[in-house]
Amino acid sequence: MNTESGMPWFEDQKRSGNLPTATDSALHFPKNFLWGTATSATQVEGHITNEWTDFVAPDGNHCRVACDHYNRYREDIQWMQHLGVKAYRLSIEWSRLQAAPNAPLNRAELDRYCDKLDCLNAAGITPMVVLHHFSNPLWIYRNGGWTNPATVAAFQNFVSQLIPALRSRVRLWNTFNEPDTYASCTYQLGEFPPFHKVRIRSFRAVIDHMAIAHHSACELIRQAGSTVGPVEVGFTKNWTHFGTLKPNRPWDWFMAKTSHTIFNRWVIHAFTRAGRNKAATFQGLNYYGRVRFHNGHSLTPARGRSREELARLGVYSDDMFERYPFGLETVLLDLHLESGLPIYITEHGSACSDEAFRIADLRANLTCLQRAITRGADVRGLFYWSLMDNFEWQFGYTKKFGLLSVNFSGEQLTRRLKPIASVFQKACVTNCVP
Ligand code: FCB
Repeated sequence: MNTESGMPWFEDQKRSGNLPTATDSALHFPKNFLWGTATSATQVEGHITNEWTDFVAPDGNHCRVACDHYNRYREDIQWMQHLGVKAYRLSIEWSRLQAAPNAPLNRAELDRYCDKLDCLNAAGITPMVVLHHFSNPLWIYRNGGWTNPATVAAFQNFVSQLIPALRSRVRLWNTFNEPDTYASCTYQLGEFPPFHKVRIRSFRAVIDHMAIAHHSACELIRQAGSTVGPVEVGFTKNWTHFGTLKPNRPWDWFMAKTSHTIFNRWVIHAFTRAGRNKAATFQGLNYYGRVRFHNGHSLTPARGRSREELARLGVYSDDMFERYPFGLETVLLDLHLESGLPIYITEHGSACSDEAFRIADLRANLTCLQRAITRGADVRGLFYWSLMDNFEWQFGYTKKFGLLSVNFSGEQLTRRLKPIASVFQKACVTNCVP
């Protein structure tokens, strides 16, 4: 297979000596580096009632069954064992567990999550539990969601019941997944329920309330401890680099600068200043790539440009964003200096039907990650997004990030390994860039 297909960028980088080539000696990761994979409840479980249940994506699909992971988690854990992953990042769905403010958690649903966690631990796969991944109970959502300060106390109540129930199974906790993406898509871009646009005050309120809730969740988790090992906890920041296609374009520069300030800088400060991150033990990072602006438009397939059209401009993308492996190295070194905390890459992956492109891209990103580590970034693990193709929020099932494919048109929702799975498996098993 020609692993460089469609990626002249990689060939250029190798020719100029910026990327190691296959003939260089093996690029090792640190001992105990945690290789994992990730999903989230709304995207894979199915049979959930939250604000996404009635949403119909432009492809005409919804998340009501999704991958039916709710019923098939035992099979999916076997797939994880086959892949050789040592960890699995999953989210626990608040709407399943709590029917009203301060209500006791639903025993049957809690038992089901406990069983899943027991199966993971028995399979030698360490669970990392995410407390909030883009979804809420309807009684929270209908009451203003995270713009309402009362949501902070409601979340605290949920977490204070959940942690004692799971502390004998879980030691790795991830409080919030990408508050930046969530607040942007709900109140800036109109892409997630409640689909509002340019509501900067709501955006700020969401981030602020999540930052406060993050802090109290970290304290609760640290106080409770875990019987399966030392507790680790942190929130996850999405990091997207913003830039311009061409220099000396003031309007494009302004758009890139403003996006960076609001999406990256402001969010990270809201979460880390005023002692709000002092109980965290790690920084989570989700990294996909970059967005460049040209003549006032962002150059991404996620915003309606075709990959071919973008490639003609020198912008190499999967079906979502421009790929930018060097950006992984720079953000890791910056975040490490800024937070002083160890980092887990809680999501990284690509969506594309061209597996050769995905494989080349994975190798390039892992090479840059390995180099960031040798240059001093303290990175403890990487979770591939995603274990399987799933419900990709506003895009329905059209963006395929899986190591496994899922046949969504068949009743059986059959899973199959994609070519990239064996490359990722090699990384998990050899602890080297594959
Ligand atoms: C991240 C989300 C995850 C998935 C990937 C592709 O922003 O956390 O749920 O949508 O992007």
